[in-house]
Amino acid sequence: MSDSVDFLVIGSGIAGLWFALQAVQHGTVRVITKDRPEESNTQYAQGGIAAVWSKEDSYEEHVQDTLIAGAGLCRREAVEVVVREGPDRVRELIDLGAHFTRHHDRADWYDLHREGGHSRRRILHADDFTGAEVVRALRAKGQAEGIRVDDHLVAIDLITERGLSRRCGEIPPAVDTVVGAYLFNPATGEVEVARAKVVVLATGGAGKTYLFTTNPSVATGDGMAMAWRAGAEMSNMEFVQFHPTALFHHTEKHFLISEALRGEGGKLQLPSGERFMAAYDPREELAPRDIVARAIDAEIKRHGLDHVCLDMRHLSREVIEERFPNIHAKLLSLGIDMAVDTIPVVPAAHYFCGGVRVDLDGATSIQHLYAIGETANTGLHGANRLASNSLLEATVFAERAAAHAGGMLGQIAEPREVPAWDVGEAVDSDEQVVILQVWEEIRRFMMNYVGIVRTHNRLTRARRRIRLVQDEIREYYWNFKLTADLIELRNIADVAEMVVLSAMQRRESRGLHYNLDFPEQDSRFIRDTVIQRRC
Ligand code: FAD
Ligand code: SIN
Repeated sequence: MSDSVDFLVIGSGIAGLWFALQAVQHGTVRVITKDRPEESNTQYAQGGIAAVWSKEDSYEEHVQDTLIAGAGLCRREAVEVVVREGPDRVRELIDLGAHFTRHHDRADWYDLHREGGHSRRRILHADDFTGAEVVRALRAKGQAEGIRVDDHLVAIDLITERGLSRRCGEIPPAVDTVVGAYLFNPATGEVEVARAKVVVLATGGAGKTYLFTTNPSVATGDGMAMAWRAGAEMSNMEFVQFHPTALFHHTEKHFLISEALRGEGGKLQLPSGERFMAAYDPREELAPRDIVARAIDAEIKRHGLDHVCLDMRHLSREVIEERFPNIHAKLLSLGIDMAVDTIPVVPAAHYFCGGVRVDLDGATSIQHLYAIGETANTGLHGANRLASNSLLEATVFAERAAAHAGGMLGQIAEPREVPAWDVGEAVDSDEQVVILQVWEEIRRFMMNYVGIVRTHNRLTRARRRIRLVQDEIREYYWNFKLTADLIELRNIADVAEMVVLSAMQRRESRGLHYNLDFPEQDSRFIRDTVIQRRC
């Protein structure tokens, strides 16, 4: 008999932990996470969490800023919901123990940052390590509430009624329902069947699909890939946000230089010292990040550079140390003193605006399966995410999903028994090098062909390559015993496939999707790109 709970939450970032804290009021909760509990995109968030907070600000302005950044594709209801419910979630975050930085002159005020695309100062932050503080507070609360978190367990695939009926030779049901997930334990090599009435994908983003990324190594799009393989609707996967300023360094591969630095007057320049943003947008360094990232990419290509520079030398050392202690200390450890030196930066894959398509309660197209946080596509971000809106979105949608799923729980039957994972004839792999080779190949062609600037030919080439590597991975997957690396490799290949398929459908340029063959916006494409795998 396999283990069964009411809520199986996959992922322990802000979305998963928030959901768990609410859901525990309705039933039994088990959070599983594939690395250390704190390892997640959330942990590395720097800039902060956007919310209408000051008297000068208004819901209307935050809504407008979000809609403008989203380039005509935001779902208005999702924007309204996040902007209006967001401040209450931030207050709750403070009440449960998150410490945000106070204003240096007025201890009763929070210090509000400003980032690209925001018309007001509205970013609450904990110095420049907001994410770590949020995770600390949520984990402490979770521990106090006795929430079960099982770490170092990797979800492999969802278990659904359709999948089971196929396996058992039964007629598949018209509407599919999730009943659990297979979990891989890298320490023992065993696969567990975890059954649940409700399964929640809170697995974060997929930055690792690209060679250069600000994301940590857990960000391999597992939830998106599992949902895709299970036949869930996916939307807007072509919109991959590149952060304009990741640190360019030969050993530090994914350190972010927060947009808050540009909010405090940071200037972008060529290594020669020449500034360039005015030629691209009147908002210059504070233009939305798709525009800034494309401008940097164009300058890098035009001058044959490997990076540009961010100049913060207008700030005194005291101000830098006080406002950006994390970034300052990290750079100093690498021999860069930002009070004296410019900071070498490049754009890097940062955030997936698309994902598992959900409604305003976080429900997916598969019954009892919810998706929240970065892995979901709620419609908030449209074609481009406004900075610091994602932590906010994760809290608002996790709260809504928990309320919705909690309300439904009484009507959901115990999930059926599930056959054990079938290892078949699989043997230990003698060639780990295959995984490394394919891993690098995917990430490189995604960077070069499906990155900031795309063309129809590049996308076609990428699609051809993806089919080849997927064949190789499939063969390897069934012949050799599972490893965490193999699971992640299969997932980034599936994410790559979804990005390319979606990008090929959008024959225009909008927001984060820029195709040189279709450089203009086209009103026929003011709609989501929805893809679904036939199972
Ligand atoms: P995550 O926090 O990424 O959590 C995902 C969890 O799922 C992890 O615990 C992971 O281990 C687990 N997981 C994944 N796959 C599996 C699997 N197969 N089995 C089990 N567990 C799994 N946004 C803002 O709003 N403001 C910011 O200032 C900001 N700064 C950022 C800075 C950086 C460097 C980065 C990378 C992102 C930043 N973002 C910021 C974006 C934001 O941090 C993320 O979008 C958000 O934290 C995502 O939260 P999440 O809970 O959805 O996913
Ligand atoms: C940053 O600090 O620049 C990241 C903010 C974000 O991604 O929302």
